[in-house]
Amino acid sequence: MGFPLHRPRRTRQSDAWRRMVRETRLTPEALIYPLFAVPGRGVRHAVASMPGVSQLSVDELVKDAKAAAAAGVPAVLLFAAPAQKDARASAALDAKGLAAQAITAVKDACPQLLVWADVCLCGATDHGHCGHVLPAGSIDNDSSVETLAQVALNYARAGADAVAPSDMMDGRVLVMRQLLDREGHASTPIVSYAAKYASSFYGPFREAAESAPAFGDRRSYQMDPANAREALREVLADVEEGADLVMVKPAGPYLDIIRQVRDAVRVPVVAYQVSGEFSVIKAAAERGWIDERAAVLETLTGIQRAGADLIITYWAPDVARWLRG
Ligand code: PBG
Repeated sequence: MGFPLHRPRRTRQSDAWRRMVRETRLTPEALIYPLFAVPGRGVRHAVASMPGVSQLSVDELVKDAKAAAAAGVPAVLLFAAPAQKDARASAALDAKGLAAQAITAVKDACPQLLVWADVCLCGATDHGHCGHVLPAGSIDNDSSVETLAQVALNYARAGADAVAPSDMMDGRVLVMRQLLDREGHASTPIVSYAAKYASSFYGPFREAAESAPAFGDRRSYQMDPANAREALREVLADVEEGADLVMVKPAGPYLDIIRQVRDAVRVPVVAYQVSGEFSVIKAAAERGWIDERAAVLETLTGIQRAGADLIITYWAPDVARWLRG
């Protein structure tokens, strides 16, 4: 039984109807805002490939974190690009390092804002890889996991409300959970970048985080974009290891993965709309080829409709303001 009985346009005929039957509703509570810390004071260094995004010294970063909170964004995701980079990622392990300072400063200035700390080695290593590099050039999984857990502990001690490992080493969630629990941080959640693909859409981020690999690529640890079953394997393993939230990254090209993950687990699912997804819309909008606000709201609605409970996006404060009208 179809037309003329069925006329789906009946509930589309006015804004009041469309609002009422809308299935997906974006809210500021679902958004997380990434921020990039660099050394210094009063530094606000624009990232050329990400219009509107800057590398910020801790004092400036605190201002942007406050503004995001005032706009209604509940959480920030902190990255750090310390000056000192070495093979051991010492800056990330340092209780007075840049990341630890940024975490503490944001928590002091804005106690109600949740601070998620990205946990990885790439921003603090001279080679820019997410784990330790063996002499032959391969990435040493198990020693990397030990270091990553120590980094997570350092950030938890600095006051992070959650630690978010983005390295894609095997088994790091379990080792991190055990160390955090042993050291008195049983209440600190782990947000696992569980299904993180080796994506060309991270290009602009690597300028912001100064984390491009000096040699090779990340395909021996990040996932092959062609694989979906493997994403479920990664996600289920991380949940078993104790992940409190799981992430799919990037978001837009992986909506099928977001849906499958949402259907497979009971923990919250986070999607990361990454730097390249941001920059392509920005670039088109700057040329007048696309309406930025409409395009952003459409992509975020699509990501949420696919099953994401939470979305990390560089537009978080803008979207929070747009939604409040
Ligand atoms: C590093 C990390 C990356 C992103 C988040 N954490 C880049 C990478 O893996 O090379 C990408 C974020 C973005 O592109 O917005 N572990």
